[in-house]
Amino acid sequence: MITGVKGFNDILPGEVEKWQHIEAVARKVFELYGFSEIRIPILEKTELFCRSIGDVTDIVEKEMYSFVDKGGNAVTMRPEGTASVMRAFIEHKIYAADPVAKLYYMGPMFRYERPQKGRYRQFHQIGCEVTGVNSPLVDAQILNMLVHFFSDLGLTEPRLEINSLGCTECRPAYRSSLRDFLSERFDLLCEDCKRRYESNPLRVLDCKSAGCKEATASAPSVIDNLCSECDAHFSATRQLLETAETPYQINPRMVRGLDYYTRTTFELVTGLLGAQSAVAAGGRYDGLIADLEGPRLPGIGFALGVERVALLLAEKEFRKPPDLFIAALGDRAQKKAFQLMTALLRFNVSVELDYEGKSLKSQMRRSDKFDARYTLIIGEDELSSGKGGLKDMRAGTQEIIDLSTGDILHKIKG
Ligand code: HAM
Repeated sequence: MITGVKGFNDILPGEVEKWQHIEAVARKVFELYGFSEIRIPILEKTELFCRSIGDVTDIVEKEMYSFVDKGGNAVTMRPEGTASVMRAFIEHKIYAADPVAKLYYMGPMFRYERPQKGRYRQFHQIGCEVTGVNSPLVDAQILNMLVHFFSDLGLTEPRLEINSLGCTECRPAYRSSLRDFLSERFDLLCEDCKRRYESNPLRVLDCKSAGCKEATASAPSVIDNLCSECDAHFSATRQLLETAETPYQINPRMVRGLDYYTRTTFELVTGLLGAQSAVAAGGRYDGLIADLEGPRLPGIGFALGVERVALLLAEKEFRKPPDLFIAALGDRAQKKAFQLMTALLRFNVSVELDYEGKSLKSQMRRSDKFDARYTLIIGEDELSSGKGGLKDMRAGTQEIIDLSTGDILHKIKG
């Protein structure tokens, strides 16, 4: 037997309805806030991700599905969507018509991580990106929209955490003061963080290892070291969230695993998924578009992990049961059932029957399995009288009706 590749999952009927629901709610909410869909390819030039996500990030160093194609080109199966959306934004000069673009996307992403619950090698994101707006109004709007999305799904988890990572003005000074602070505690750091100490010391702040936690316990905080513009931007964002009554917590240790972030960063976190606590995450990337040789425009966005949202919806049932199950006894009854089914389907009534002509008992078992709203039994008696018993499975009542499309439609659809 050939099995699937580790970390790459099938999404089977029963589960897929939940995914369709998540996607439908995302489309509805994001379009309400003025976003349009963009469909980006799965394969990009490897250079795009090295330049945007950053050469010294876990994603680029260890996790990318990169290969040389038959034409000798270095390509990568996208590990995230922001870089591709910005590449498309620049390549198609979307900014020429309006620098403010609001785009959303959904689809598979690929990272060679160690698979566990909530973490896979092919996973799915739904993401949004806004370009061309510096104002904190858009930071707050994006966060309100995310909270709106989770509330429309009926979820009370996850909760919102925010931080600011500063900008090219204030971050270098903070980075070097953090490095100075860590230099006295270097021996406590884990092997990964000893390496990151030079290249990306902020990552030490969110390392889970005990030594790194101890080393950073009284580390200087990034939000206490923002320049005045970043500080004003962050307070304005917070005030707008308060105006909107959107609950949030500040997490000054939140450091995102991608290098393009500036200023506001955020995560929607849950305690229900073990180590994979971030259900959605994002932030500002005010330098990324220019770094990719586009115009000097700011950007902000997020992506949510569909698998993680689906895990939070675990108990809910999204499969739609059929409106009607017809049990037919004998060849003539089966023909009649087929004729009724065909006509009712054309009126958008969903109908199931047993295709194999089994016993009444077995057909009723099948109807139970479908959890059909109504059941109709057709045997020789019903065929000769032209009438049959339509059973309302929820109410447990039965009504005699004509075996006609019109009568059945009337009873089922009202
Ligand atoms: P990210 O934090 O790398 O950000 O991923 C966003 C979300 O994708 C995570 O919070 C998580 O829910 C989900 N996710 C990430 N990796 C996996 C995995 N291996 N298995 C399952 N789910 C996963 C980004 O990708 C940025 N592009 C977000 C962004 C958009 N920032 C600005 N715009």
